[in-house]
Amino acid sequence: MRPELRLAECCEAAAIAALRVLAAEDLTNRFGLGHWSGNTTERGVLFAMRIAKVYVLQAQHKIIATLTLSTRKPWAIDRKYFSACKRPFYLTAMAVMPTLQRRGIGRQCIEAAIEKVKQESGDAIFLDAYDAVAGAGAFYRKCGFREVGRVSYRSVPLVYYEMLIENPLSPAGIACGPRGKPRTPR
Ligand SMILES: CC(C)(COP(=O)(O)OP(=O)(O)OC[C@H]1O[C@@H](n2cnc3c(N)ncnc32)[C@H](O)[C@@H]1OP(=O)(O)O)[C@@H](O)C(=O)NCCC(=O)NCCS
Repeated sequence: MRPELRLAECCEAAAIAALRVLAAEDLTNRFGLGHWSGNTTERGVLFAMRIAKVYVLQAQHKIIATLTLSTRKPWAIDRKYFSACKRPFYLTAMAVMPTLQRRGIGRQCIEAAIEKVKQESGDAIFLDAYDAVAGAGAFYRKCGFREVGRVSYRSVPLVYYEMLIENPLSPAGIACGPRGKPRTPR
């Protein structure tokens, strides 16, 4: 049976931080030091759990992937580049265990994340990725995200991606429209 993406528990914060550190170290080994080399602490994950939903995928008692979904806009996101959605979710802190990457686990997590967003009446997923070879832009494109802009945030080059989600549960009558303009119901 395929493991399912589920909400993480507080007692798993250290394991989640360790997984994110492993993924960052792997990127550093492959691409050199960069913004992707940042550290993650148990405290940082616990804080994220208070303001967002931290999810994990577990296999054989081990956390093998994680991602965070939140309706709170991260500082690095400039909404004007994105479609005008009523209830977008921001995807951050995604990581798959380095030894298990490129086997479809990341795609499985994105598919599960779309379902979580639908269940929470969301109508889009927005995210940013490093505009660099170490960035995961190609992965997000393969998962169906669309590039909507390139910016420099505090001197860090970023690419913005969005995925609009058809959702009968989303707030009544207004679907995502073009940038800055919510689409009015016909
Ligand atoms: C990015 C990441 C989450 C992808 O997870 P994964 O399990 O390796 O991805 P999948 O195996 O599901 O890949 C899905 C598709 O994307 C492609 N892909 C995955 N990572 C890629 C990358 N870095 N560059 C280009 N293509 C990539 C795969 O080849 C696959 O393509 P296919 O369908 O044609 O075979 C994972 O590599 C990771 O944790 N990276 C380190 C942390 C990171 O960069 N996080 C994102 C922060 S913005």
